Amino acid sequence: VTTAGKKRHCRSLSLPVHDGLTRLLVVFLATGLAFMLLPGTFVGVMNLIAISSRHVPGSGDAGWIQAHGQAQIFGWLGTFILGISLYVIPKMRLSKFSFPLAWSCWGAWTAGTFCRWLGQMYDVAWQQLLPAGTALQLIATVLFIVVIFRRAGTARQVDPWFAGVAVGVASLMVVLSWTLLLSLDLAATAGSPVHPKEVNNHLLTLSVWGFLVPVVWGYSARWLAPFVGLKSLRTVPFFTALLIAASAVALSISGQGLPAAILVVVATAAALGAFRLLEPAKQDSRTRGVHPSFPTFVRLAYGWLAVAAGLNVWAALAGSPAGIVGASRHAITVGFFSTMVFAIGPRVLPAFAGMRQLYSARLMFAALATLTIGCSIRVVMQILAYQGYASFAWKWLPVSALTEMAAMTLFAVNMAATLLQRPTAIGVAVQLREAGSTA
Ligand code: HEM
Repeated sequence: VTTAGKKRHCRSLSLPVHDGLTRLLVVFLATGLAFMLLPGTFVGVMNLIAISSRHVPGSGDAGWIQAHGQAQIFGWLGTFILGISLYVIPKMRLSKFSFPLAWSCWGAWTAGTFCRWLGQMYDVAWQQLLPAGTALQLIATVLFIVVIFRRAGTARQVDPWFAGVAVGVASLMVVLSWTLLLSLDLAATAGSPVHPKEVNNHLLTLSVWGFLVPVVWGYSARWLAPFVGLKSLRTVPFFTALLIAASAVALSISGQGLPAAILVVVATAAALGAFRLLEPAKQDSRTRGVHPSFPTFVRLAYGWLAVAAGLNVWAALAGSPAGIVGASRHAITVGFFSTMVFAIGPRVLPAFAGMRQLYSARLMFAALATLTIGCSIRVVMQILAYQGYASFAWKWLPVSALTEMAAMTLFAVNMAATLLQRPTAIGVAVQLREAGSTA
């Protein structure tokens, strides 16, 4: 924090501190954590235990499985993405007009995501809850775009990180619009809230490779070089990776599974080259306040992305690939997305959330290590069990589920304890000064 009269900055991250914005971010983060724990992870564990007890892939309740998937994608990761993006767009903190829009975005997003989850989980009033919930999510996304693009309109050139976020949000609009049409159709013609398998797979491809991956790449473009100490981003491979990933999504949805899977491998290789993850670091990573293993886990997360892409090709070549598809999906959702959030989150979020410090670097390591163990067991055992290669593997799947649930709980406890503890002396000074200036 600089002296009075100058702009106040959170030094480590070079961002101005704003009390109202901090409150907004904390609410988004708390909402995301709540979705992750119960509607997301707990339901996922129940699904896996049910499937493992029957030894039959695909024997879980389809409504519960889809409810779990959407709670994790939109309820957890989506809520984190919206909250963090609203925070890091600097223009917003200057505009009073943006705050009501941002809070309305949070309200509509949370209500909409909860309605969809409730409708699919409990079969209650789903004819109303599914379309209404998706419409609310769409409204929230439009509000988000209005806030974000007010800033982008004034920028002289588009930053690579912002391009990643923009591609992801454009895909989010497409996936939600499509889901709205489908849920209206389901409500009018079908007897259950479950999306048919093929179209559900298209929605997942669009959500994972169209929405989440470009956004995570966008934030990687912004944060990996300074925090992990990597050499600076190569922009041409970065934009190439975004373009190829978008083409892969289009091919996959048009039924070209193998070419799409190959393009996903190429896009992943381009991203690894763009971030220079395989090259020696340029400088020491910034691990103050977090566990020193942080850069290793960031690299490991990208390793999981490569595993997911490789398994995707295997699945496209295999005749009956339920276990390989599931393992690939898990490698990307838990291995890549969750490891990235568990590693980068403790690095940036405590400072964003009002200059707090991470509650415990050891808990951070415990969560990351437990997640890695659980995900490794799951990916290997899911292929062995679901593909019928080894029946002993069925016994390990519930173990993987409980291990991953322990990891998710450790992460949530660490983040909640961080957000609940008092801000540091510097943070308090900033907030007192802000309170004084608004009184
Ligand atoms: C404790 C951790 C988790 C467990 C036990 C779990 C379990 C499951 C199970 C059993 C399925 C059904 C498909 C299959 O048999 O493979 C599934 C599907 C899915 N999971 Fe998870 N999962 C977990 C974490 C996550 C996370 C963190 C995400 C996202 C970030 C996620 C996203 C998905 C998605 C998108 C699907 C597909 C849903 C659909 O078919 O519509 N899961 N999960």
